[in-house]
Amino acid sequence: MSPIEQVIVNKKTNINPIWIMRQAGRYLPEFKEIRKKNPDFINLCLNENLSSEITLQPIKRFNLDAAIIFSDILILPYGLGQKVKFEKNFGPRLGEINLKEIAKIDEIDFVEKIHRVYKAIKKVSIDPLLANKSTIGFVGAPWTLLVYMINQQSPKKNLKDNFFKDEFLINRILLIIEKFLKIHIKNQIDNGANIIQIFDSWAGLLEEKDLPNYIYTPTLNLVNYVKSLNIPVICFPREIKNYEEFCEIVKPDAISIDYNIDPNRIAKNIKIPVQGGLNPKVLLSDRETLKKETIKYLEIFKDHPYIFNLGHGILPETNPEMVKCLVKIVKDYK
Ligand code: CP3
Repeated sequence: MSPIEQVIVNKKTNINPIWIMRQAGRYLPEFKEIRKKNPDFINLCLNENLSSEITLQPIKRFNLDAAIIFSDILILPYGLGQKVKFEKNFGPRLGEINLKEIAKIDEIDFVEKIHRVYKAIKKVSIDPLLANKSTIGFVGAPWTLLVYMINQQSPKKNLKDNFFKDEFLINRILLIIEKFLKIHIKNQIDNGANIIQIFDSWAGLLEEKDLPNYIYTPTLNLVNYVKSLNIPVICFPREIKNYEEFCEIVKPDAISIDYNIDPNRIAKNIKIPVQGGLNPKVLLSDRETLKKETIKYLEIFKDHPYIFNLGHGILPETNPEMVKCLVKIVKDYK
């Protein structure tokens, strides 16, 4: 069993495996090199030779315990036929949503459009570099995907004014998202993903009264689906105010926390394995601060099954040497 599985499944507390959200891409010079020659980001995700190479880049550099496949949560709307583009200094820009068109897409069309992601997972998962390490497959949570599909761009702090106006559209799209997320998860697992992480990056945008409809129910369905395939599932409901309630209702195998939540509160109130928390900005500071902040999390979760990670994706301006330093601090602890 890989160290991450030992923490999640066997609840081991004396090891602290580490991987880093958004570890492939963004800040690595060897990624930027490939990215420069490949202006279309989706095409890059769908090039299994390059995407598997990018997935392995951080594993070659650092002693990480998992590879996360180089793809994007927005590959799902792309597979459903919505236009998805990534613009420099802007982020994702999605086309207008057409319910009639999307409702016509079947499993065969969808898998045909994105099957090269699965080929990349297969290549990565059998690579000797990943012996005794995890291969993490991932999806966006239904709510976060709905946000991008309706909002057509990152919401930053607020949703479009009339976001919830067309309730019929929203509910239909949510069901379609859920159906195809299951297909996407199943194909990732069949091709070698042995852990699934569900990213709910915009969980924090919702008011409490809307959580059951948009987060708890659809995420619980997915979590139960992954569990039925006997694969551990990690949830990251970023900036959700009540992690305790989320865990009680959704019951993921592990919970990934953001950097604004007090880790002491989590260690006290949550019994399931925990992942993450460190502010990615700490990697932009100096080695001393990095050590202090890293040890803080390791100490708080000393007697808890804990996977080291950040509280959100690594920042593009991060110096890879600081990542090396972080991994060493975690590996040398105790
Ligand atoms: O972890 C990894 O390194 C693997 C690949 C991965 C990407 N995106 C590659 C990517 C993963 C796991 C994601 C998840 C993702 N994508 C999330 C959830 C995590 C989070 O950050 O909250 C979200 C919300 C997205 C949507 C998305 N994709 C945005 C907002 C952007 C633009 C800003 C950014 O993050 O760079 C992307 C583009 C994207 N996804 C890039 C990469 C390497 C950059 C593309 C480029 O080079 O232009």
